[in-house]
Amino acid sequence: MRKLVVVTGGSKGIGRALVEKFSGEGYDVAVCARNLALLEELTATLEPAALHIFSADVSRKEEVEAFGDFVLALNRPVSVLVNNAGVFIPGKLLEEDEQNLRVQLDTNVWSAYYLTRKLISRVKAAGCAHIFNICSIASLAAYPHSGSYSVSKFALLGFSKSLREELKETGVKVTSVMPGATLTDSWAGTDLPDTRFIRAADVAEAVWAAFRLSPSAVMEEIVIRPQAGDL
Ligand SMILES: NC(=O)c1ccc[n+]([C@@H]2O[C@H](COP(=O)([O-])OP(=O)(O)OC[C@H]3O[C@@H](n4cnc5c(N)ncnc54)[C@H](OP(=O)(O)O)[C@@H]3O)[C@@H](O)[C@H]2O)c1
Repeated sequence: MRKLVVVTGGSKGIGRALVEKFSGEGYDVAVCARNLALLEELTATLEPAALHIFSADVSRKEEVEAFGDFVLALNRPVSVLVNNAGVFIPGKLLEEDEQNLRVQLDTNVWSAYYLTRKLISRVKAAGCAHIFNICSIASLAAYPHSGSYSVSKFALLGFSKSLREELKETGVKVTSVMPGATLTDSWAGTDLPDTRFIRAADVAEAVWAAFRLSPSAVMEEIVIRPQAGDL
């Protein structure tokens, strides 16, 4: 039986590139996003039998749990879990609507916490499994106009590092992925040339390279930036 990969927020951008990469390498993928139509579009471009799609808003605990139940119902070990779904809301901590922090913590942090806890027994059951948390260079440094986003991404990196410590003895690998500016819908409307950005497919290739290491080595962190530097 083909191995199973789980990706949150897989209908666009980095998540979609990950779905396409793992699916192209012969893995089955369970994927969620809010917009079901986009997920259905994805099934049309990939081998449909290999894709298990589910509509969920991961900023809501009950919907993360529902996606977790959907994956559990597949009754298979989970070889790779990618906590990718995330939202970027620009703003300054002292001026923004306080909902900014709440929404970004719910989407970018709590979703990973709930889903990982829900699926961890299936991840351990896969033997040499791998959890990737899509953090950001905003997990490493603060940027102007990204206050709450940075708070959420620092928190996700803390979650990811702690998980790595907790799972060391189990054989389950944990990798924190820190991309810089990547050309996705998050940058819609930019005037900058495409060449100024990382491609989503580059992030997927980096994840794949980390996944391919032997069972005795783990790439704990991946930092990937535009060649010309941060934006
Ligand atoms: N692009 C960058 O420059 C960059 C840099 C560093 C890190 N990142 C991180 O990389 C991850 C992916 O970002 P991206 O740029 O690829 O974003 P994107 O192109 O906007 O795609 C986001 C994906 O997540 C889904 N999603 C968003 N909110 C969701 C929610 N509440 N519930 C379920 N699914 C949700 C979206 O589908 P629906 O809208 O249908 O729900 C979509 O499939 C995020 O965690 C982001 O913070 C991005």
